Amino acid sequence: MTDVTLATPGERQQRISDIFVDHPNHQQATKALQRFYMPVEGGIPSRGSICALIGQSRTGKSFAANDIVAAHKPRVGQDGVKRPVLLIDCPIEGGTRGILDSIADALDLTVSSRLTNANLIGVILRELRRAKIEFVIFDEAQELFPEKNKKILSFARGLLRKMLNLSQFNIVCIGLPETYSVIAEDPQLFGRGGLEHKHLSPYDWNNMVDQKNFRALCHKFDVEMPFENSGFGAQDFAYRLFLASGGCIGHLKNYLIDAGNRAIADASLQVELRHFADAYDARKRPGETFNPFRASSI
Ligand SMILES: Nc1ncnc2c1ncn2[C@@H]1O[C@H](COP(=O)(O)OP(=O)(O)O)[C@@H](O)[C@H]1O
Ligand SMILES: [Mg+2]
Repeated sequence: MTDVTLATPGERQQRISDIFVDHPNHQQATKALQRFYMPVEGGIPSRGSICALIGQSRTGKSFAANDIVAAHKPRVGQDGVKRPVLLIDCPIEGGTRGILDSIADALDLTVSSRLTNANLIGVILRELRRAKIEFVIFDEAQELFPEKNKKILSFARGLLRKMLNLSQFNIVCIGLPETYSVIAEDPQLFGRGGLEHKHLSPYDWNNMVDQKNFRALCHKFDVEMPFENSGFGAQDFAYRLFLASGGCIGHLKNYLIDAGNRAIADASLQVELRHFADAYDARKRPGETFNPFRASSI
């Protein structure tokens, strides 16, 4: 990477945080979302079905959702803003009203707290029509379907059915793996399209294709880091990064940020194993002795 000597430490830190890399899991996730939205490129949006993008935390699901939102920006039309894609971040608390408020927020609706739930549902359904929504994304959808909270669960299922009844858009639920079965258990929701889904997994070192992809991903990060290349993509280095991250992009990024910060702080030209080793030590569980960046042979 050139120019790093001209950048301030803060600029270099920011550069690390801002790194975006294209990689196969990301492509698979965006492709799945795009298919749930509009199965034929340049065709028409699908309607009335519920779909799911599931996977463990930090595998890049929300990143993929943001890509789809960015590719289909709201447009200002004659009678207000039209939003092809609506992204709703499900609240972790606030009950049924919290869910409705988060949808109203995503639609930019200003809602009086005196409005009853039933009326607010009416307002939301009308706005979904008016704004010509073509695709609805519920991120952190496990919050909509808490297995232990029957009240929220049946409310959310009913609300989604009402939304699908508009026959205007598909809904995708993005969430943890267990989200799939909770939706699938509702025959009325499952019946709407059979719950097409995509499971996003971390990279698996024992799978040769995954291993190659993970090494390529590490190399791409290396190229983007504001340092001389450090060799992240080499077999040995990448394996250590795999052991620390479990093949999960979010965890990998955490290590790159922390090790990068340490390397900036000690004016190192490269991000070295010792920077990662310190970053790992700072996070490892009490009593854990293994450190993939210190072990001489792994
Ligand atoms: N394509 C990518 N390039 C760079 N960093 C990424 C990419 N995808 C995800 N990340 C990093 O991983 C973190 C976790 O991703 P996120 O999409 O929030 O995962 P999830 O929604 O599955 O929990 C993000 O905060 C981001 O820092
Ligand atoms: Mg997320």
